[in-house]
Amino acid sequence: MELGLKGKKALITGGTSGFGKETARLFLEEGVSVAINYAQNDGRARDAYEELKDKGKVIVVKGDVGDYKEAEKVVDEVINKFGTIDILVHSAGIAQPKEDTPENWDKVMKVHLYSCYNLGKLVSPVMMNQKTGKIIIISSFAAHMTDISAYSVAMAGKICYAKGLAKKLAPYNINVNTVSPGNIFTPMLDPFIPVEKRREFSEQNIPLYKGREGYPEAIEVAKVVLFLASDMARHITGEDIKVDGGQFIHY
Ligand SMILES: NC(=O)c1ccc[n+]([C@@H]2O[C@H](COP(=O)([O-])OP(=O)(O)OC[C@H]3O[C@@H](n4cnc5c(N)ncnc54)[C@H](OP(=O)(O)O)[C@@H]3O)[C@@H](O)[C@H]2O)c1
Repeated sequence: MELGLKGKKALITGGTSGFGKETARLFLEEGVSVAINYAQNDGRARDAYEELKDKGKVIVVKGDVGDYKEAEKVVDEVINKFGTIDILVHSAGIAQPKEDTPENWDKVMKVHLYSCYNLGKLVSPVMMNQKTGKIIIISSFAAHMTDISAYSVAMAGKICYAKGLAKKLAPYNINVNTVSPGNIFTPMLDPFIPVEKRREFSEQNIPLYKGREGYPEAIEVAKVVLFLASDMARHITGEDIKVDGGQFIHY
């Protein structure tokens, strides 16, 4: 069955690492032109570009999507270069900072939650105008936990925002969904779970990895994002899909 993705244009925030980069790779394989966005790490962005550039049309767009003006520049640059945005994957994010301070609360809210507002406001009119579009926001299984950290609260907010946006945009043939990963080994987890502990962590916390080799990697999330961006998922909107190997039901 055709995925219906060939020739589409995608903006992937946080596209230079982890879930975003893996999604970019799968999209390129399906003939999607991809803009990978990031905020800080220029070296990693260069490496991502080098890794992906032979697979199809890739551009790199720097900008903090938690800041409205910068998000606007990011979206404008993608539209200038690609002509439109058919798919938005919002995967930009940071981990919960160690210290619970007002400054850190603010930082997490900006990156994770304000960014949804910024991107939703900026990309929706483009998609409404063309009467088609897909928006996929990466949340977290933390959104479903009983937890007062800024990270969990922001992630829950992402799901709430996405459901509201899905309702608003449905008459324009635009699907909006969230994906909620469990712990999956991307660079984000490196400071928390060292490489040599990945297998043990997975065995103890992720039901699908009990008695099985290896540990979950970014491709698991990228495949679900690809599905949601495709024609296969055209009747799904306002939904949240946990991709956690059963970690949530385990806790
Ligand atoms: N890995 C997990 O286990 C896990 C589980 C559940 C949910 N998540 C969520 O999934 C999303 C992707 O995580 P990941 O594991 O792929 O992380 P990652 O490998 O650390 O990648 C994060 C990406 O976001 C970019 N970024 C960070 N802040 C940004 C900003 N303000 N504006 C634009 N880009 C920004 C980073 O680039 P720069 O650093 O260069 O800015 C990088 O490209 C995040 O929202 C994360 O919280 C992750």
